[in-house]
Amino acid sequence: MGDSIEDFVQELQNRITEEIKEAYGEIAYERWLNPPNRGALPAPDGHAVLRGVCGDTMEIFLQFENDRVSNASFQTDGCGASIVCGSFAAEMALGKSPDELLEITGESIMESLGKLPKNDAHCAFLAAETLHEALNDYMIKETRKSKPTPGDSTSNS
Ligand code: FES
Repeated sequence: MGDSIEDFVQELQNRITEEIKEAYGEIAYERWLNPPNRGALPAPDGHAVLRGVCGDTMEIFLQFENDRVSNASFQTDGCGASIVCGSFAAEMALGKSPDELLEITGESIMESLGKLPKNDAHCAFLAAETLHEALNDYMIKETRKSKPTPGDSTSNS
């Protein structure tokens, strides 16, 4: 009796796994199980948190060296698709300049993971939008750094 319940549960799990793989593809499935670049970065140069229309939040952290992304990560309280999309967005950001970061879009994230059900497309767009907001945060901080502050005696202007 015990065995048949275990067999039933195992069979159910296998079926669910196969359905997820079928819907999202092997690449997204593997990444969902073990998403690289997950977690907060200490002292990020660029950071943003956005809430999607679904109510989930996406958070992106960027560190820069010589105006290129040296480290990137994500956090989300969202669905499996948002985990996969956040992970891809962070990975795609590595090594990119600000201009190149703007080329990372919801479409390019969806292309990278190969397959995403239409209903989950907004997860990819949320990840891209959050990435662009984190870049915006970085650009604002960089602009402030280069602007002379009032009363700065080292300023020539
Ligand atoms: Fe909200 Fe995926 S359903 S981000």
